[in-house]
Amino acid sequence: MQRIMVTGGAGFIGSNFARMMLQKRPDYHVLVYDKLTYAGNPDNLDDLQGNPRFNFVKGDIADQEKVDGTVQLYGIDAIVNFAAESHVDRSIEEPGGFIQTDVFGVYVLLEATRKFGLERLLQVSTDEVYGTVQDDRSFGEDDRLQPRSPYSSSKAGGELQCFAYHVTYGTPVVVTRGSNTYGPYQYPEKMLPLFITNAIEDKPIPMYGDGKYVRDWMHVLDHCEGIDRALHEGRPGQAYNIGGGNEWENIDVTYRVLDLLGKPRSLIQYVQDRPGHDRHYSITTGKAKEELGWQPQVPFEEGLEETVRWYLDNRNWWEKIKSGEFAEYYARMYGQREVLSQHG
Ligand code: NAD
Ligand code: TYD
Repeated sequence: MQRIMVTGGAGFIGSNFARMMLQKRPDYHVLVYDKLTYAGNPDNLDDLQGNPRFNFVKGDIADQEKVDGTVQLYGIDAIVNFAAESHVDRSIEEPGGFIQTDVFGVYVLLEATRKFGLERLLQVSTDEVYGTVQDDRSFGEDDRLQPRSPYSSSKAGGELQCFAYHVTYGTPVVVTRGSNTYGPYQYPEKMLPLFITNAIEDKPIPMYGDGKYVRDWMHVLDHCEGIDRALHEGRPGQAYNIGGGNEWENIDVTYRVLDLLGKPRSLIQYVQDRPGHDRHYSITTGKAKEELGWQPQVPFEEGLEETVRWYLDNRNWWEKIKSGEFAEYYARMYGQREVLSQHG
């Protein structure tokens, strides 16, 4: 396996993965295939341009002809699929695009994998497919999928097709279910980069509901390492949980960010909650440890500090985003949102 196609590689995790592969595997050729939606950003790949082992193709994973042609043209051995509509709030606003990319798009990649006899399709999925924790028990890979948002149900649809293709056609698919990921190059619609950049700008921080929702935070390099191991060592037809083992309430993460930036807690505004907001995500990662030799390496406090520093040092990167399509999105998503209370 030397020629890999990283679909969705102009986004947050995919661009970090493309960079990691080029550094870590000197005999690999990396082709990023990306539709460049609002979340896809060529700036994320700036430092890779000019590398003779790197190519970029603009294309949609739901376009079978383009996917097939690209796989053939570049002699692709394996696909790592990051391409997705990835934001829960946008899925609540407009679910159709999620079905098109996260469900239909995965079908197209499976067809290409089958047709051209590729060595692997690694489908990057999420711990959100399990739904919210019910009785304080973390989810293992064999637990029932109970997705509750249009985003997570589309991701579940994508991965279920992978398992069906494995059973029916023997297609060599591996699925990873990652937890909430943070780090450089994350589009500032997601909680951490939104809160960090708003705080830098002294803008209000929109905390949904009571702020006591729990997420398991993982540094993007740990996530990418887990995907690399699953790509190479994972058993076909299997799912692997990849999680940070860092479960924090949103409010506590926010306090930490504000402290790191020396900003006051009075920036926090409790606002109208997200409909169907999942209370708590939690997964076990023993299978990844045992079978892939993977464990997260980046301590949350260190990773967070480094990430805050990255957003301070790379203002141009996010100011450009925040002044474009994002400004309209922000007005639409937050402009009408009722403010429940100001942080005391
Ligand atoms: P992102 O939104 O930053 O990037 C998604 C990328 O996919 C963008 O570059 C976009 O242009 C591209 N894309 C979207 N639709 C496409 C299409 N039809 N064809 C080709 N390209 C398309 O997302 P991310 O946060 O980097 O997430 C990457 C993957 O990891 C997603 O599959 C997501 O479900 C999964 N995941 C994310 C997290 C997280 O916390 N961010 C956690 C677990 C799993
Ligand atoms: P998010 O980054 O959207 O990831 P996900 O919903 O996929 O876990 O949100 C992380 C947590 O932060 C989640 O509990 C929702 C909360 N949140 C806010 O409180 N305010 C916001 O403006 C956003 C975007 C998220």
